[in-house]
Amino acid sequence: MKFLVLNGPNLGLLGMREPGVYGTLTLADMMKQLVSYGREKGVEIDWYQSDLEGELVARIGASRGYYDGIIVNPAAYTHTSVAIRDAIQAVSLPCVEVHLSNIHAREPFRHTSLTAAVCVGQILGFGPMSYRLGLDALVEHLRREKE
Ligand code: DQA
Repeated sequence: MKFLVLNGPNLGLLGMREPGVYGTLTLADMMKQLVSYGREKGVEIDWYQSDLEGELVARIGASRGYYDGIIVNPAAYTHTSVAIRDAIQAVSLPCVEVHLSNIHAREPFRHTSLTAAVCVGQILGFGPMSYRLGLDALVEHLRREKE
């Protein structure tokens, strides 16, 4: 199995960005851990981060045929991006939305996700573990689809 892991704006600043909310791991370290977790589960991972909505949209659009599924943390675009939502819907690959923080326990503008409804599910609030749980969920979802 091969998954694309997409990270949205400002996630490249992890490590120094609001450590009380997001922890102290850099994105590169987090993704390194996820890649080896994936390897243990038989999943190959390509990961990518962009601050640009259009780049994220393009990556999603280009993922069909190359990946079995997508794990996406759209970051701030979660709450604003019709374009990312449409891209997920258009590509028709199973997608799991993840967040490091519990967006429902934060400011009201973070309580809405435009993208969650076109994903298989959403996992949030567990820090880097949200990504690992997302990977497990996507593996299980794909296994069940094949049955
Ligand atoms: C985030 C939550 C978003 O509200 C925020 O804009 C982020 C990170 C998270 O992983 O907790 O950048 O997606």
